[in-house]
Amino acid sequence: MCGIVGYVGEGKALPFILEGLKKLEYRGYDSAGIAVLEDSHIELRKKVGRLSNLEASLDGELADSVGLGIGHTRWATHGRPSDENAHPHCDCTGDFVVVHNGIIENFASLRDALIERGHKFKSETDTEVIAHLIEEVYRGDLADAVRKAVSMVRGSYALGVLSKHEPDKIVAVRKDSPLIVGLGDRENYIASDIPAILGKTRKAYILEDGEMAVLTRDSVILSDIAGSPRVKDVFNIKWDAVAAERGGYPHFMLKEIHEGPKAVRDTLSGRISDDASRIVLDDVKLPAELVAGVRRIYMVACGTAYHAGLTGKYLIEKMARIPVEADLASEFRYRDSIMGPGDMMVVVSQSGETADTLAALREAKRRGVPVLAICNVVGSSISRDADYVLHTWAGPEIAVASTKAYVTQTVALALLATYLAQERGTIDEDELRRFIGEIKSLPQKLADALRLEDRVGDIARKWAPVDDIFFLGRGIDYYVAMEGQLKIKEIAYIHAEAYAAGELKHGPLALIVEGVPVIALATQPAVREKTLSNITEVKARDATVIGIVPEGSDEMADIRRQCDEVLEIPAVDPLLMPAVGVVPLQLLAYYAAVARGCDVDKPRNLAKSVTVE
Ligand code: M6R
Repeated sequence: MCGIVGYVGEGKALPFILEGLKKLEYRGYDSAGIAVLEDSHIELRKKVGRLSNLEASLDGELADSVGLGIGHTRWATHGRPSDENAHPHCDCTGDFVVVHNGIIENFASLRDALIERGHKFKSETDTEVIAHLIEEVYRGDLADAVRKAVSMVRGSYALGVLSKHEPDKIVAVRKDSPLIVGLGDRENYIASDIPAILGKTRKAYILEDGEMAVLTRDSVILSDIAGSPRVKDVFNIKWDAVAAERGGYPHFMLKEIHEGPKAVRDTLSGRISDDASRIVLDDVKLPAELVAGVRRIYMVACGTAYHAGLTGKYLIEKMARIPVEADLASEFRYRDSIMGPGDMMVVVSQSGETADTLAALREAKRRGVPVLAICNVVGSSISRDADYVLHTWAGPEIAVASTKAYVTQTVALALLATYLAQERGTIDEDELRRFIGEIKSLPQKLADALRLEDRVGDIARKWAPVDDIFFLGRGIDYYVAMEGQLKIKEIAYIHAEAYAAGELKHGPLALIVEGVPVIALATQPAVREKTLSNITEVKARDATVIGIVPEGSDEMADIRRQCDEVLEIPAVDPLLMPAVGVVPLQLLAYYAAVARGCDVDKPRNLAKSVTVE
């Protein structure tokens, strides 16, 4: 996720661009850059770090350049945060300049071919190929060149393009990444999100996938990528400036829950072969001998990332038949674990800065054990120190409660488990294809799960005054239950416990009395009967039970009958249920927190990134 801003008009470009980027810094903040037209050529300035670094380095320069400019605030995907990798990117001549939000999946092959044809690259980014492609196909019509260039790329993009050859225009185009066109008075704008333009206008076109806009000072011409004209209604923005930064959502947490489907789509992007028959983890560069030879995996993380790690343990053991020890990083680092040859560590972290996880990683490395990080932040300490990195592309997560990052972590771990099974031959070809099909369906399944929002909201408001909530599950459902209880504790300040359902009668059942709320996760057909008995046990003590079951699962009919209320989640392979099953739990915590008047995005005593022990 990155932020894009562009200006074309009769005024000064830079002040608008810098102001707009400030409003978009929530979308990424590891580096920033601008390009403006100055004396008939394009001036490019880029700086690693926050936008303030770029501003300081400009020191007032270019402030008076008039007419045309673009800017970008980056959330690194391809290439670590650095001055060179910051956007905008340009072609060999510096005549064509591009800002991009998204991922170009086939950038490696395009880049090789461009280098062979003599192009010189200055960055490690996927984006730079677009600038060189435009340079190659440009024949005096920038819009046409952009059309031709995007027809060669696969992946997601929102692009803003300038050229010194056509200094009166910006070309903008989108596919699977947001982009809007703001309509001003003798000036027009592009931006990734509404807050960037609110200081100037409340009128905009919201571009749809496959739409292109050519902006000049006095006009905006809309078309599809093939060049056929498009007509759209002007969108009148009614949000206030603060709500706009959250995309109109009342809290970042809710916005981020809704970003889950996109985050998963991005995390899968480029990691499944075109014919959906294989998992492709070329970007991770795991050596074949490590994949073939690993005898035991240590799965280490904290909090939500640990809960995701537990689902990874379950999948890797089941699919690739490699024993996995899952550990809390804070425990792992002080226990004298028996690590050695044949072992590998997988650490999971959204921020990539969690002190305990980093310490565990370093301990493994000290003992010669290779470390793979599942990490959301490119260039973070964990992603730099690990030997291999499988990035989750969730984009910046602002709310303290982790939601979209958890979902992408479970999906990244599912990719890893499937890859290990595929490479080690513990899965047959037909089953592999079927399972990959299930993985591919996840973005849609997540989007479908969000339809439960209103019902979950009603339940949350009803339950908001309770003192305790219990979460039950068996197998992989237990791990999702753990995540559900953490969320509700963390942001709604309700005491909550997750139990492996079979453990109830070994003690916790003593706490179940009339009306105690219990969430029972029942998504695993293999343990259906066992889960049913546990639900019956708590119902016999008059608990109020909400069951979470897969849609249309006839085999869960008797579980449905036992529960006071049932939430049906979209059906997917049972091993992939964590990504979908967690959605109602995240929503439950969110709406309970709102009903209790809690500070949802900044819960008391907590911080987003725990960089101390
Ligand atoms: O950045 P990390 O994923 O390493 O963070 C680990 C935990 O601190 C984090 O998941 C924490 O539990 C969340 N606030 C839970 O919502």
